[in-house]
Amino acid sequence: MKIAIMGFGTVGTGVEEILYKKRDRLKKNGIDIEIEKVLIKNIKKERSPFEKNLIFTDNFDEILSSDVDTVIDLTTNLEDTYQRMLALMKAGKNIVTANKAVVSKYFEELNKLAREKEVYFAYEAAVGGAIPLIHPFMEEAIFNDMDKVFGILNGTSSYILSKMEREGLSYEDVLKKAQDLGFAEADPTADVGGVAAMRKIRILSSLIYNAKINEAEIPTYGIENIKKIDFDFAREMGFSIRMLAKSQLSNGLVNISVIPSFVGDDFFAKTFDATNAVKIWGENFISYEFKGPGAGRLETADAVVRDLFRIVSKREIPAFYDGSKSYKVENAVKNKFYLRIKESPKALKDVIKYEKVKAGDQLIITKKISLKELKPILDGLGEFFLAEIEENI
Ligand SMILES: NC(=O)c1ccc[n+]([C@@H]2O[C@H](COP(=O)([O-])OP(=O)(O)OC[C@H]3O[C@@H](n4cnc5c(N)ncnc54)[C@H](OP(=O)(O)O)[C@@H]3O)[C@@H](O)[C@H]2O)c1
Repeated sequence: MKIAIMGFGTVGTGVEEILYKKRDRLKKNGIDIEIEKVLIKNIKKERSPFEKNLIFTDNFDEILSSDVDTVIDLTTNLEDTYQRMLALMKAGKNIVTANKAVVSKYFEELNKLAREKEVYFAYEAAVGGAIPLIHPFMEEAIFNDMDKVFGILNGTSSYILSKMEREGLSYEDVLKKAQDLGFAEADPTADVGGVAAMRKIRILSSLIYNAKINEAEIPTYGIENIKKIDFDFAREMGFSIRMLAKSQLSNGLVNISVIPSFVGDDFFAKTFDATNAVKIWGENFISYEFKGPGAGRLETADAVVRDLFRIVSKREIPAFYDGSKSYKVENAVKNKFYLRIKESPKALKDVIKYEKVKAGDQLIITKKISLKELKPILDGLGEFFLAEIEENI
């Protein structure tokens, strides 16, 4: 089978490496994959592919008009890549992608078109890196109702938080270390601000509920303002801090957020380094858990190659997601929150359970309150750090 790859950076080179190194073994199993062309942005950049004769182009039309039947998208671009995916699907080509930004923003449109054009739309690598999440959830969604999914869906924030916890370092020092080691991108905003995790919980929730969950409806709080005193305070209460993505469907209402959370030492997703961990609840089982590398060159490439392998061996699940169910995002479940802020907002007066001043900051524990009530109070305030207190996971 002939394929094309769009993007030859971290993950793209990883995919080429696996396909090159395992070519004989794949052939022995009836899978003969030939990379016809690779689309990149900068044609002048020096490349060192394993396959020395690999052909590069910066002209998308060469991919669109080629006879490949599957295109792997490993670009970082959002709108251009979306338009290209539409064109490719319309031309009858299957899409495999790791691009969570495109998958999250255009989940409904891409699934619909894949169904109409009877092509495969595979995006395992877009959520949880090497951890198989999408395919198990897709299979379950066909015969099982799932009502809750949550966990750690961002390796960079976990790396930073677990290092702060273990080594007592500041956020800035750990972020710098993470960037030097390649765990964090030069622009870490999407990771530490929670947007990357928000996109992933949007994809997982939409998939398991078969309902559109809009990105804008997901309250997203990051760790960019975290300080050592937040960790010290959590520790005094017997907790650590991790950034969790949470989604729950209850009585027809959805509770969904990405938020730093105080978690106990026995919490299943209290992972260290860049490990991701996800737990799912469904009617045919109480729950089950996944854990593993949520990013990385070969790790993400591995999930991409699994998708490709499924398509080539005709074992891929046709896109069935149609978002035909509709649930209101309410965020009405009440919980306690920790808030560090310079001056406590008047509107919070009645819900403060505990408050102390430390180094010019107010450290607040709220009574039980919902994110629906809390979010409007915090919107528009200056710098603060917010965490949900998870006592009953
Ligand atoms: N890295 C990870 O661990 C990881 C994990 C999970 C998912 N992902 C997702 O995988 C995708 C690729 O990530 P990456 O880390 O491999 O990125 P990367 O190293 O920055 O590589 C991006 C590649 O896309 C190409 N590209 C960008 N815009 C393009 C355009 N308009 N037309 C053609 N080519 C274009 C670049 O071309 P040039 O080489 O010419 O610059 C580059 O080869 C992203 O969507 C990312 O979110 C990554």
